[in-house]
Amino acid sequence: MEVPEQRMSMKVIARKDLTPEICEFTLAPQNDGELPAFTPGAHITIETPSGAMRRYSLLNDGGAPAEYVIAIKRETNSRGGSSSMHDDATVGTELQVEPPENEFELVGASKYLLIAGGIGVTPILSMARKLTAEGKPFKLVYCTRSAAETAYLEECKAFPGAIVHHDEGSLDRFYDFWDHFEEPGTEHVYCCGPAPLMEEIKAVSGHWPEGRVHFEDFNAVAVVREDDVPFKVTVSGSGHTIEVPADRSILEALRDAGEPTVSSCESGTCGTCKCRLVEGEADHRDLVLMDEEKNDYIMICVSRAKTGDLVIDL
Ligand code: FES
Repeated sequence: MEVPEQRMSMKVIARKDLTPEICEFTLAPQNDGELPAFTPGAHITIETPSGAMRRYSLLNDGGAPAEYVIAIKRETNSRGGSSSMHDDATVGTELQVEPPENEFELVGASKYLLIAGGIGVTPILSMARKLTAEGKPFKLVYCTRSAAETAYLEECKAFPGAIVHHDEGSLDRFYDFWDHFEEPGTEHVYCCGPAPLMEEIKAVSGHWPEGRVHFEDFNAVAVVREDDVPFKVTVSGSGHTIEVPADRSILEALRDAGEPTVSSCESGTCGTCKCRLVEGEADHRDLVLMDEEKNDYIMICVSRAKTGDLVIDL
């Protein structure tokens, strides 16, 4: 597990509304210094004006970047990340930024299938631009609720063979991916979007060779839900028992209590916060654990107690 790297001081130099809910931000270094390079699929972690740390995929060319470009959707249930960026990060706002990391890197392949849902288009678009520049074959499937809510719509529609599908928020109109997955091909698949999309892709690709389907999720996982209740977590090593309020994750409660924690995505997708589950029954909300691991491990950034309390080992 990695300790966060040194932060950079950056400022917002431009912002542009892409849709009523999605805003593009361009960040430049405060001191005109050089920025670390990155590859498609990389993200930066920003301390938003609210103080919440959030990860955002980079959209621009990462070869020798003079700036970082990100796009952020205002999440309805935002706990201070996206709404803080929308409301308080104006041109000139200074932000502390952790250098790019990439856990969603394009591997060498003869062809690619890129699948984006909603704001999950950000790393996927970066990949599509790169593959286009390199003349490598790929197919893009981009699913959103409606044209009006679709960031980078015209650019995405212009990629050869691109499919842009609007479901109008209806499960009945969910895009049918089966044709893309029925016969495993040679392509590598990259998928970024909300949990239902990722779960669908996992379901239809179960018969594909391991390692050929790659996932990334920056959409807000429902870390805290309306009907969540408080419970207690005991850290087995220290014996320290902590109350987890209904509106806080285990990770946040441990952090508030001064317990040492490590995390990255804080959305149940990266695996960084994995802890051993010593006692209790977990309500698993992550996209990381295999079924056979769920009795013994818990991702504390999103998962909670199903009933009663938990004992974990950090
Ligand atoms: S911090 Fe990434 S899964 Fe929990």
